[in-house]
Amino acid sequence: MLLEYFIFGLITFLTTVAQCEVTEVFAEPGSQAVLPCKSSPSSPFSPAIIWSRVGKGTVWRKQKSGLQYWGSNWSQKGTQRAQCPHFQFERGDYSLQIKDLRQDDGGVYSCRVEHGGTFTETRVTLRIIKVSISPSVPIWGSDVSISCIVTPWPSRATVQWMLNNSPFVPQTGTPSNRETAESVVREKATLKLTGNWTCVVGYKGREERALIALTVKGIIQPQKDDTKVYAAMGSAVTLPCVFSPGLIPSSPVWEKLKPGSLFKPALDQLPASFSPSSPSSQSSWDQSASVTEVGFGDEGRYRCSGTVEGQRLMRNMKLVVAKIENSIPSQKKASKSLSCQLSDVSEVIDYEWVHLVYDHNGTQSVGSIQKGKTLSLSKASEENSGEWACRFYGKEGILGNVTYHIPQMSALSGKKSSGVSYNTAAVVGLSILLLVLLLVLAQMYKNHQRRKRIFQYPALETIVHTTSNEREERERNRQKK
Ligand SMILES: *[C@@H]1O[C@H](CO)[C@@H](O)[C@H](O)[C@H]1NC(C)=O
Ligand SMILES: *[C@@H]1O[C@H](CO)[C@@H](O)[C@H](O)[C@H]1NC(C)=O
Repeated sequence: MLLEYFIFGLITFLTTVAQCEVTEVFAEPGSQAVLPCKSSPSSPFSPAIIWSRVGKGTVWRKQKSGLQYWGSNWSQKGTQRAQCPHFQFERGDYSLQIKDLRQDDGGVYSCRVEHGGTFTETRVTLRIIKVSISPSVPIWGSDVSISCIVTPWPSRATVQWMLNNSPFVPQTGTPSNRETAESVVREKATLKLTGNWTCVVGYKGREERALIALTVKGIIQPQKDDTKVYAAMGSAVTLPCVFSPGLIPSSPVWEKLKPGSLFKPALDQLPASFSPSSPSSQSSWDQSASVTEVGFGDEGRYRCSGTVEGQRLMRNMKLVVAKIENSIPSQKKASKSLSCQLSDVSEVIDYEWVHLVYDHNGTQSVGSIQKGKTLSLSKASEENSGEWACRFYGKEGILGNVTYHIPQMSALSGKKSSGVSYNTAAVVGLSILLLVLLLVLAQMYKNHQRRKRIFQYPALETIVHTTSNEREERERNRQKK
C-alpha cells in the first residue's frame, strides 16, 4: 500500500516535471520540424489529441472516433503541412510533423492528449532560424550584409559566426546585440567572404546552426590580384580576365603598368603583338587579352578593368617571361650548358630539364630528366641533341616550361671532320704543288748546267779552231816569204 502511494507520487511528480519543461525545437525555413509529444498509453481506448498554436488556434486534432481536422492555415488544396503519423500512436507518440517550414511558423505549440478522462499537455517552442544575404549575390567591392534571424528570438541567446568552418569576427559594425531579434554582419564583398556562412546560436547550453553560401560577382579569373602568368619567350600567351557569367562589363580597358609604381601607377606601352581579345574568348564576359609573341621586355604588371552596375572592377596580374640562356664554356668546346631564366622567380621553387623525344610518327615522349636550373651536357653526343624543355615548378605544381633545340651533334661533328679533310687535302695539294715546283726548278737548274757544259766544248773547239787557223795562216805566210 505504501509502495503504491510512493509510485503514484513519483509518477505525479514526474508528470508535473514533464509539464513544466518546455521543449525547444530549432529548424530552418523550408525544412521539416518534429514537435515531440509523448504520453504513456494508460487505456486501451484511442485518445483524443489536439495540437494547437498557443493563442492562434488549432493546427490539427483527432477525436476519439478517429476523425481528423486541420486548422485553416495548415491544410491547403488537399495537402497538409502538419500531420501526426498514426503508426506511432500505439507507442504513445503523438509528435507533430511540420514540413515546408516558414519563418512565421515560429512560436509556442501545445499538445493535449485525453486518455479516458485524464488530460496531459506538452508545450513545444518552435524557433525558426534563418540566415540570409543581401544582396543575394553581391558585386565585388560592394556592401553586403549577412543576417541571422531566430523567430521567436530566445532571450539570453548568443550568436557566433563561422565562415568556412572557422570563427569569423566581424571587423566592422557593432557586435551582435543579445536582445535584438537578429545578428547582422556588414562587410565589403571580397573573395575572402565567399564560402559557407554558419550562424551558431547558443541557447541553454546547446548550439543551433544555420548555413548559407555566399558567392561574389566580379572578375572570377584570375581570382586574385597579382596572379602570375607564365609564358616562354617567343610563344603566345593569354592574359585572363573573365567576369562572372552574365556580367557584361562596360568600357573594358587593358593597361600595362610601369614597374615600381604601386600606389600611383604610371602606364607603360603595351607589347607590339598585344590584342585586347583572345581567340578563346567567346562571351562578352570574357575580356581576356592575348600576346601572340612574347618578348623578354613584355614582362611586368598588366591590369584589366571594366564597369559593372556602376562599380569599376579591376584585376592586376603579372606576366613572367621565361627564356633559355645558352652558354658554351670556352675551354671545352664539346660540352654545353643551358640555363633557365625567368623574369620573376619569386614563386619558383624547382626546375627540371626534360629531354623530348619524338618517334617516327612525331609523337612526343619524355626522355631523360635532369634536376636543377642549369642543364649541363658534358659530351656532344647524338643522344643529347634535339629538344630540351625546362619545366619550372611552384608550390602548387608546374608553372610552365620553355624549350630549346640543340642541333644534331652528328651533323656538327660531320661538318667539322669534313673541314679537317678539306684542310689536309689543301695542305697535301699545296705540298705536291711545291714539290712539283721544286722538281721543275731542279730540272731547270740541271738543264742550265748541262747547257753550260755543252757550250764549254764549242768554245774550246773555236779556240782550237782559231789556233789551228792561225797556225795555218802563219805557215802559209811563211811559205809566201
Ligand atoms: C606509329 O606508327 C606505327 C606504324 O608506322 C604504328 O604501329 C604505331 O601504332 C604508331 N604509334 C602511334 C603512337 O601512333
Ligand atoms: C609545356 O607547356 C605546354 C603548354 O602549357 C604544354 O602543352 C606542354 O606539354 C609542356 N611541355 C612539357 C615538356 O612539359
